[in-house]
Amino acid sequence: EDEAFLERFQARIDAEEKIEPTDDMPEGYRRTLIRQIGQHAHSEIVGMLPEGNWITRAPTLKRKAALLAKVQDEGGHGLYLYSAAETLGVSREQMTEELLAGKAKYSSIFNYPTLTWADIGAIGWLVDGAAIMNQIPLCRCSYGPYSRAMIRVCKEESFHQRQGYEIMMTLARGSSEQKEMAQDALNRWWWPSLMMFGPHDTDSVHGDQSMRWKIKRFSNDELRQRFVNATVPQAEFIGLEIPDPDLKWNEEKQGYDFGPIDWDEFWRVVRGNGPMNRERIAARRKAHEEGAWVREAANAHAAKRKARAEA
Ligand code: ACO
Repeated sequence: EDEAFLERFQARIDAEEKIEPTDDMPEGYRRTLIRQIGQHAHSEIVGMLPEGNWITRAPTLKRKAALLAKVQDEGGHGLYLYSAAETLGVSREQMTEELLAGKAKYSSIFNYPTLTWADIGAIGWLVDGAAIMNQIPLCRCSYGPYSRAMIRVCKEESFHQRQGYEIMMTLARGSSEQKEMAQDALNRWWWPSLMMFGPHDTDSVHGDQSMRWKIKRFSNDELRQRFVNATVPQAEFIGLEIPDPDLKWNEEKQGYDFGPIDWDEFWRVVRGNGPMNRERIAARRKAHEEGAWVREAANAHAAKRKARAEA
């Protein structure tokens, strides 16, 4: 790749032109997108597991219908994103194999267990809230297929966030046991939610280049700060306490200061040793094996149609 090509490409990016699948692009740009979109797709697919765990135990029919719809949305986001990644020359089979082999990354957050019904509220409120904060800017990502996929995904994520917050609000206004359950879920999900945004900017390997290419529009720390600023008043509104003794409004920066993140825990989880990593991959493998007949049937059906069309 010569300098002139890289410069022309950067000029297109700087002019806010969308890059489309058939356009020439630097190998690094392609690789970065395959990595990020692939990890994002896997996160949606693995993300179905912690909540799927509560579908049969949702407290009411209405709650069950909403949770079922939300988990299905996530499956849809995953498929959508695999398709976006496929426009870059990688196959879904390849990405799936990497996930099942434990080689692909997916968001750290989905390696924590869902212990009570309040966790379903906390996930919608915090995890989907963090996802929106991170994904709204991705609607303006320089790569066309990814940016367009994000528009619909963000609309659905915002419904997920509302349903989660509404669960938390209901519990927080309920009996003292219910309120305690909500507080306990917040205590367990708060720090892992902050970790979702990735390492500090100083330790973010891809951050600077991805910002130059306008794949990312804001840095990990900027988005994390915005999330804290938006979420603290929501916790106050429902009378729950953020589990951070260092949390304090900073008038000068017009944002909250917050305590240190446990990066050892983050990397432990990212490297496969979180509380639920093994279970998550095992569950995906089982689903993949048990779904083999569906793939075979779909292939047989497609072959028959093709033969009929050619006859
Ligand atoms: N969980 C697991 N791995 C992470 C996380 C996390 N929360 N945050 C960062 N990492 C990994 C990166 O993937 C990268 O690993 P790699 O080099 O092996 O690919 C490494 O840590 C260093 O991080 P960065 O250099 O900061 O990586 P990047 O610039 O890609 O930023 C981020 C990370 C913010 C997650 C970015 O990839 C992104 O915005 N992705 C799209 C959104 C997404 O995937 N969301 C998933 C959760 S939301 C949901 O599914 C409901």
